[in-house]
Amino acid sequence: MEKTLSIVKPDGVKKNLIGEVMGRFEQKNLRIAALKMLKLSKEEAMSFYAVHKDKPFYDSLTDSISAGPIVVMVVEGNDAISMVRKLMGATNPKDAAPGTIRADFASDIEHNIVHGSDSEESASFEIPFFFSLLEIHPVVA
Ligand code: RTP
Ligand code: MG
Repeated sequence: MEKTLSIVKPDGVKKNLIGEVMGRFEQKNLRIAALKMLKLSKEEAMSFYAVHKDKPFYDSLTDSISAGPIVVMVVEGNDAISMVRKLMGATNPKDAAPGTIRADFASDIEHNIVHGSDSEESASFEIPFFFSLLEIHPVVA
């Protein structure tokens, strides 16, 4: 069992896609092991995306993710990290495979509906950024 951190970003919440995103994960036998809705401050967004601090899009990225409420979740299952990434589609919705969340719903690269950890290393930073151990409910086999 692998765990990953996924976020329905402010544009996804605004477009009423919380259930759609979680439903796509659940349909692929992934489990929601932790869940909450919150709004990041600009400073919190900057810490969360610190890995991108030298990128030209860092300022606009941290503006977008802190623009409104988000839904954060721990998703658990076999190959959860790559499964979630596959269901999300490519970063730029123009390049995203048909049937992926981003191809179906995203308006542009800066408003691409969903986030998913891109490696075990990022998942192990991103999960405890939002959740304590007591808030994560692993699947009982
Ligand atoms: P995410 O971290 O949100 O799951 O997305 P990702 O791995 O597919 O993409 P990443 O390279 O980590 O970039 C994080 C987010 O920054 C925005 N971005 N804008 N304007 C640009 O060229 C640009 N490049 C990336 C996207 O919203 C991306 O999801
Ligand atoms: Mg990323």
